[in-house]
Amino acid sequence: MLHNDVAYTGYEAVLDGTPDQELTRTGRGTPGGEYLRRFWQPVAYSHEIEQAPLRVRIMGEDLVVFRDRSGAVGVLHLRCQHRGTSLEYGRVEEHGIRCCYHGRVFDVDGSILEMPGEREAEKLMKRFKQGAYPVHVFAGLVFAYMGPIEKKPPFPLYDKYFLPGMKLVPGPRVPFACNWVQVKENAMDPAHTAILHAWEGMFASEFGKFPQITWLSTPVGVAYAAARRVDENVWVRTTDIMMPNIHSITSVFESGRQPRDCSPPWITIWTVPRDDEYSHQFVILHVRETDHTPTEIHHRIITNGQTPDRPYAERQQVPGDYDAITSVGLMPPHSIEHLGTLDQGIMLFRKSLREGIRAVQDGQDPQGLIQDTDVRPTYASDMVAPLSAMQGDPDDPAALMQFARDTIARYLTAPPLRNGSIPEAPPYPRFDAAE
Ligand code: FES
Ligand SMILES: [Fe+2]
Repeated sequence: MLHNDVAYTGYEAVLDGTPDQELTRTGRGTPGGEYLRRFWQPVAYSHEIEQAPLRVRIMGEDLVVFRDRSGAVGVLHLRCQHRGTSLEYGRVEEHGIRCCYHGRVFDVDGSILEMPGEREAEKLMKRFKQGAYPVHVFAGLVFAYMGPIEKKPPFPLYDKYFLPGMKLVPGPRVPFACNWVQVKENAMDPAHTAILHAWEGMFASEFGKFPQITWLSTPVGVAYAAARRVDENVWVRTTDIMMPNIHSITSVFESGRQPRDCSPPWITIWTVPRDDEYSHQFVILHVRETDHTPTEIHHRIITNGQTPDRPYAERQQVPGDYDAITSVGLMPPHSIEHLGTLDQGIMLFRKSLREGIRAVQDGQDPQGLIQDTDVRPTYASDMVAPLSAMQGDPDDPAALMQFARDTIARYLTAPPLRNGSIPEAPPYPRFDAAE
């Protein structure tokens, strides 16, 4: 029997945790997999299919992504419906892709255009199809809708895509060796930025000051606001997840020293399951039209600490998100976690996820599924105001917390990106200097 005041609990403690099956399974027919399939998911970058068909694995399904010579993009089941040869070896045609083995040609919608030498071709072509998913190309990303065709929603639009003077640039693809939920939850965990990223030294040093954090639901997902005092300013940083798996952050070089009403988004990230145990992060960069910083630098900053491609000794000394997130193992040990009050964002995200999964099971639309083409507001921003903007003592955690709550509550009626002019993002100091 264990008592709270007894230490050395090694022999008693449970060794292995188990993941929450409802949230983490992504295959077809699983509750979580059916839920994720109701949303458009990125499967590739446009530039990845310029030369040849691309083999990808998304939510446990092997697919081929290609652009035919007429410019149409297809996302088909990888294996040819004839006898299973992989279409990654296929030849792109004017219309569709030709299987290398016996030459059947499949259009982007999966209909068969040719069956060379087959006497019954006309009849069989009507009867057979190659599995295919609808495609939408946006901002250099190829999205597929992998759910029931009669439920296909319009492609969702958010205000951050249409900011004056800014453009969207495809970023890097970042693979993570663990379940997607473990990766995505990191976006609702700003407490780690004050520890992991202060240690890492990649973010502005002001992130190292522990903020007062509040979380709440938005019309399309969940958000947090983190408030810090920086000199004579109060800085409120907000980030949001658009359910189920999109989030944006503002610049990690924000210092909270320069007063501003809002800031432009920096990156938007889709966390897409490859299967239950591996994920891809697809990234778009939000860049000023006048910003000529080479994309390579953006990529390096964004992938810093987000991959295992560093010497082990360096990762031990200066661990990054990748090390913190994937070292839990391929599946998160939900059953043996010990959550505290700083994990409210994790709990809120899981609650939204669970409710969404159950809504789909009940035949309802889950939170975040948008059934029109209206542009939706989003809430990731940095607001830096003089101390006079807040009530109470700026060194009183309760007063700071109230200011965080008031700020994010205000955003729900007056979204931060809606006020027309978006200031410059803080520049990229570290890598610019090193180049
Ligand atoms: S296996 Fe593809 S055409 Fe025969
Ligand atoms: Fe992080």
